[in-house]
Parts: sequence; C-alpha cells; structure tokens
Amino acid sequence: MAEINRKAKQITAQVVSNKRVGQYHQLILAIGDAAQLCMPGNFAAINVGGDTSRMILRRAFAISRVSVNSVAGGTMELIVAPHGQGSTWLCAQNEGADLDVIVPLGTAFGIPTEPVQVLLVGGGYGSAPLFGLAEVLNARGCRVDMLLGASTASKIYAPMEGKRSVNSLRIYTEDGTMGQSGRVTDPIAAMVRDLNIAVIYSCGPMAMLASIDSITRGTEVIHQCAVEESMACGIGVCMTCVLPTQDADGTIAMLRSCIDGPVMDGEKVIWDKVGKAL
Ligand SMILES: Cc1cc2nc3c(=O)[nH]c(=O)nc-3n(C[C@H](O)[C@H](O)[C@H](O)COP(=O)(O)OP(=O)(O)OC[C@H]3O[C@@H](n4cnc5c(N)ncnc54)[C@H](O)[C@@H]3O)c2cc1C
Ligand code: FES
Repeated sequence: MAEINRKAKQITAQVVSNKRVGQYHQLILAIGDAAQLCMPGNFAAINVGGDTSRMILRRAFAISRVSVNSVAGGTMELIVAPHGQGSTWLCAQNEGADLDVIVPLGTAFGIPTEPVQVLLVGGGYGSAPLFGLAEVLNARGCRVDMLLGASTASKIYAPMEGKRSVNSLRIYTEDGTMGQSGRVTDPIAAMVRDLNIAVIYSCGPMAMLASIDSITRGTEVIHQCAVEESMACGIGVCMTCVLPTQDADGTIAMLRSCIDGPVMDGEKVIWDKVGKAL
C-alpha cells in the first residue's frame, strides 16, 4: 500500500446504526482504534454485496465524522446515497451487520496553522466530510462559514448538531424547496470579497468544484477540494481515477485521485480537461 495509506487497516466494522435522512442513509460503523487515525478528507473503501455477490470492487465513501469514545468505542459516520447496486446494498444493512472496510484512505484536508477565515462548500452528499472538518477548524480558532447546495431539499444533508461548529450556514436548492433558490456557487465571489476568506474547502460534483476554481484562480484564496472521481482499486494501482494537473512550473501530470487525493489543490487541476485525453 502506498506511503499515503500506511495507516490504513482492513477491519470488520459492525453497523451501530442506519438511519434514513432525506435521500441519504446515515451509517455509524464501529471501527475501534482506526477512528484515531482518520482525518477530515480521508475515505473508506467498503466491500459490498456479501460473500456470494459478483460486486468485486470496493465502494469509496467519504468519512463524515469520527468519534473516538462513543459507547460503541471508535466509530465512523458515513452519509450514503443509494445509487447503484453497491450503495443500495450498503444502505440496506441493519444494525449488527458486519462489513469489510479499509480505512483510512487518501489525503486529508490541510488545516491552517493560524486562525483564518474559511468557507466550506458542499454539494449533495459532498457535505459529508465538511462537518467533521468544521469541528477541527473551529477548534483551531478559524471563523467557519458554510454553504450547502443541491438540486432539491431532500438532497441536502445538514444535521442540527453540525450547525454548532459553523458561524453561518446558508443553503441553496436549484428548485427553491429549501433555503435560497439558485446554485451553491452563486454567493461565493461576494463572500470571498466581504469576509476576507483565506481558504475554501469544497466537496461535491466536479462541475461545482470547477466553478469554485473559476472564482479562486489567480487570487490568493487557497482552494482545497475533495474530488469524487470513479475509483476501481482505490489504492493507486489501476489508474482508473486519474485527473489532469499542472504544477506552477508548467509540469503536466495525471494524478490518481485515490492516493494523490481525494483532497487536491484546486488550482492544480486542469478542469476543462477532466475526463478528456490530454
Ligand atoms: C473519494 C470518494 C468519496 C465518496 N463519498 C461518497 C459519500 O460520502 N456518499 C456517497 O453516497 N457516495 C460517495 N461516493 C460515491 C460512491 O463511491 C459511489 O456512489 C459508489 O461507488 C457507487 O457504487 P454503486 O455500486 O452504488 O454504483 P455502481 O454504478 O454500480 O458502481 C459500480 C462501481 O464501478 C465503479 N466505476 C464506475 N465507473 C467506472 C469506470 N469508468 N471505471 C472503473 N470503475 C468504475 C464505481 O466506482 C463503483 O465502484 C464517493 C466516491 C469517491 C471516489
Ligand atoms: S482507483 Fe485505482 S489507481 Fe486510483
């Protein structure tokens, strides 16, 4: 396993709870001591379908939050959208079920050394890793503003307890069924200007991440984004998950979002070439 994943462990994790929240399932898994190794931005790779299924590939899920001393010991929270066969199987697992999980994988969000103003932007289930991140940033003394967006209200994941870690939370839905009508990226340029934002942390669809980059590129605002490119092996071997990137010196490289990410410097990604040949 690559250096970045040197702390990853394959463990049997029991489902502590599985609750439906809008269009998502909030799964709490008992992961024991591995909870102490998880950082905001890391993901888990879960074996789905049970022993007799043909679902060979593990599915990747962002770690939403961890607790190191809950009554079930170390736990990890995931927010899962039942999408295809694997995620639908996962959402159907009841309390007490055992899951084969590799955790923690991938890069983590960088935390500022000084208390600065930060903006967190989540699209759909992309809000999942941002609440745990908000807690860490809050403890660092940062002012944390958050924007969440989705096409419709049931695709917004915004737990009540998560709101305690943010100074402000604004919600945008494209159909206007929750919060303000419009795209989550609509207010970003004004917030960057008015609130003196130093870092934007984002997670969501690629188009949303690209749109944020178009606002921050060429400015002093750092954009750390968690990409959710399709993954097969999840550990850097198969090259399924590559993204085109360019360094400040002009060097172009295809980076693997499973081990060079999922958290990447948004300014390095060549957004208009994502999914295309270079
Ligand atoms: C880092 C990361 C974090 C994520 N976090 C979340 C989260 O918090 N919540 C959530 O609901 N979802 C999350 N996802 C998406 C989640 O992994 C997918 O919804 C899930 O893999 C879909 O699995 P499925 O069996 O339901 O669907 P299917 O469509 O049946 O997926 C089949 C499998 O094929 C893989 N695949 C798809 N296209 C290709 C391709 N072109 N080449 C090779 N393999 C391919 C997929 O990655 C998946 O493993 C995340 C994905 C990544 C990469
Ligand atoms: S998913 Fe195989 S290299 Fe990234």
